[in-house]
Amino acid sequence: MAAAEQTLTRETAFAELAAEAAVCTRCRLAQGRTQVVFGSGDPSADLIFVGEAPGFHEDKQGFPFVGQAGKLLDELLAGIGLTREAVFVANVLKCRPPGNRDPMPDEIEACESILFRQVALIEPRVIATLGNFATKLLSGRPDGITRVHGRPQEARIGERSVMLYPVFHPAAALYTPAMRKTLEEDFSRLPALLDGCNDGMVPASSGGAALSEVAPALSNEQLDLF
Ligand code: URA
Repeated sequence: MAAAEQTLTRETAFAELAAEAAVCTRCRLAQGRTQVVFGSGDPSADLIFVGEAPGFHEDKQGFPFVGQAGKLLDELLAGIGLTREAVFVANVLKCRPPGNRDPMPDEIEACESILFRQVALIEPRVIATLGNFATKLLSGRPDGITRVHGRPQEARIGERSVMLYPVFHPAAALYTPAMRKTLEEDFSRLPALLDGCNDGMVPASSGGAALSEVAPALSNEQLDLF
């Protein structure tokens, strides 16, 4: 297939997926949302960022990371010469949990196929997971972000193998300013990872990213920003 035709097919499939997500009622969060926050950026990007869930401002505006954490994400991107338009930004959950509480395991299970299909369509080189929820879901491992941040690991998502790069959630640096330096250091490795340098990559877990594997960790462990 010619490249232009492939781009058109991808964009059409992406628009169809966004339309499907926009009317989703698969979990309780559909009742309280203003709108579904599908994600934004380049559907052909080499790099995807995956956060946790829309907050108050994201729910109102319909775009991910538009609040304070988003401002920091923009600054971290600018620090490595990237813009929002050059990457794709999404969340584990596409609807806002009430009061910005943590996602529940059944909500993640109801929503995960949209994220997996986004990844399958975009075919990124690298997925940077922001914080615990995205990291545990996409790695299929229970290891928390404090242990695994800044270390690329291989993950199987659907048919494809992809490089996962866990970093702290930007909101962590809003609560703990010293965390910003760690985030900047971890972000500084992204350009080399995108160029194909994957020294020290941790191999994929045998099972891949299925919620059934991470659900025990999600329910038994305190899952927040660290
Ligand atoms: N905004 C988002 O879109 N996702 C988060 O995880 C936090 C803020």
